[in-house]
Amino acid sequence: MITERSEKLYAEACGYMPGGVNSPVRACRSVGTTPLFIERAKGSRIWDEDGNEFIDYVCSWGPNILGHACEPVISAVKAACEKGLTFGACHKSEIELARLIRKHFPSMEMLRLVNSGTEAVMSAIRAARGFTGKDKIIKFEGCYHGHSDGLLVKAGSGLMTQSIPSGAGVTEGCTRDTLLAKYNDESSVRALFDEHGGEIAALIVEPCAANMGVVPPKEGFLQFLRDITAEHGAMLIFDEVITGFRLSDGGAQKLYGVTPDLTTLGKIVGGGMPLAAYGGRREIMECVAPLGSVYQAGTLSGNPCAVAAGIATLKQIESTPDIYEALDKKSAVLEEAMKSAGLNVNRCGSLMTAFSNSKKVVSYDESRACDTEKYAKYYRHLLRNGIYAAPSQFEAMFVSYAHTAEDIERTAEIIKAFNGE
Ligand SMILES: Cc1ncc(COP(=O)(O)O)c(C=O)c1O
Repeated sequence: MITERSEKLYAEACGYMPGGVNSPVRACRSVGTTPLFIERAKGSRIWDEDGNEFIDYVCSWGPNILGHACEPVISAVKAACEKGLTFGACHKSEIELARLIRKHFPSMEMLRLVNSGTEAVMSAIRAARGFTGKDKIIKFEGCYHGHSDGLLVKAGSGLMTQSIPSGAGVTEGCTRDTLLAKYNDESSVRALFDEHGGEIAALIVEPCAANMGVVPPKEGFLQFLRDITAEHGAMLIFDEVITGFRLSDGGAQKLYGVTPDLTTLGKIVGGGMPLAAYGGRREIMECVAPLGSVYQAGTLSGNPCAVAAGIATLKQIESTPDIYEALDKKSAVLEEAMKSAGLNVNRCGSLMTAFSNSKKVVSYDESRACDTEKYAKYYRHLLRNGIYAAPSQFEAMFVSYAHTAEDIERTAEIIKAFNGE
């Protein structure tokens, strides 16, 4: 594979941006390669600047459930752009997107559109604190909720990939109110509520963890979180930035039948544009300015072009009744291939990780114990053979509706051919 142009561009980019990238995992350091510079993408395929073609399973880290450059989405964005890129004012499409979101996530009785998952989570936590009048939050080791200060503690994939335990530049004061529990371990949560019960504003969780590799919740774990938070008057926040519209049209909360107080969405809801949302029970959201004293704002929030992409994507999902069944079937074929290559797979619908260890991964500690060198070899094997996967053991693989049966068959054959080298 010739990567001359990408290498040249990378060398140049390194002079301008830290590590040559605008988000750390893209630097591909843990898999021993340098990044490919992508020139264009369509459907299940991406092409780099050297003209190499790949079947893409990164899918921009989740948004592209319909594949790249899906026609109805592109048309909707083009039409919106023609009318103006940003108004900084109310427009009727915001209502349409909010209506669509609430239709699928009825727990989001009231919601706000923001620009990134990081912002959605940061704002949801602020709303929970404002509503409860309490300070502390519980998060889980290995769950990632964006890069706001208070949440950068044992924060999963990006930091795990770089072996950074917690972020430098984050003061002790910022994380003093962040309590850490162990995912899938009820006793660790109970212990925190026993000690700090009256001070806890919220517990935030990825309802199906996907930033320590994919680690689904154990049977009953989410209901346990629902019960213990309700008992202590703490808000339960489901961070569905990845799982929203991915695991089902109503996200993980519909799949597992557990209703949180607040939800954050990102990725798919923005259809590939910078858009995210947070929302939940009306009485909590009524604490947000201008109705209440929790301040949250944004110059580009509800941006008309991003909103158009979100609406078109959600409508496309609605008009494809077999989408989740089809994604599940395709993903099952890949799962079997990974198993035959001796990898240990965790999968929830079209979200999966091939772990390079021999034991089932149900916790952050087990995920951390993976043989990342072996994963790097697996990654390079895939890349050499035209498959673009996540350059980190701790990220998920995403399958899109645009992956054809032939794409899946070809990918499965390549995965099966991995012999550990
Ligand atoms: C579960 C989860 N929450 C929040 C975020 C942050 O979203 P963003 O990268 O849009 O800021 C991510 C990003 O991957 C995520 O996976």
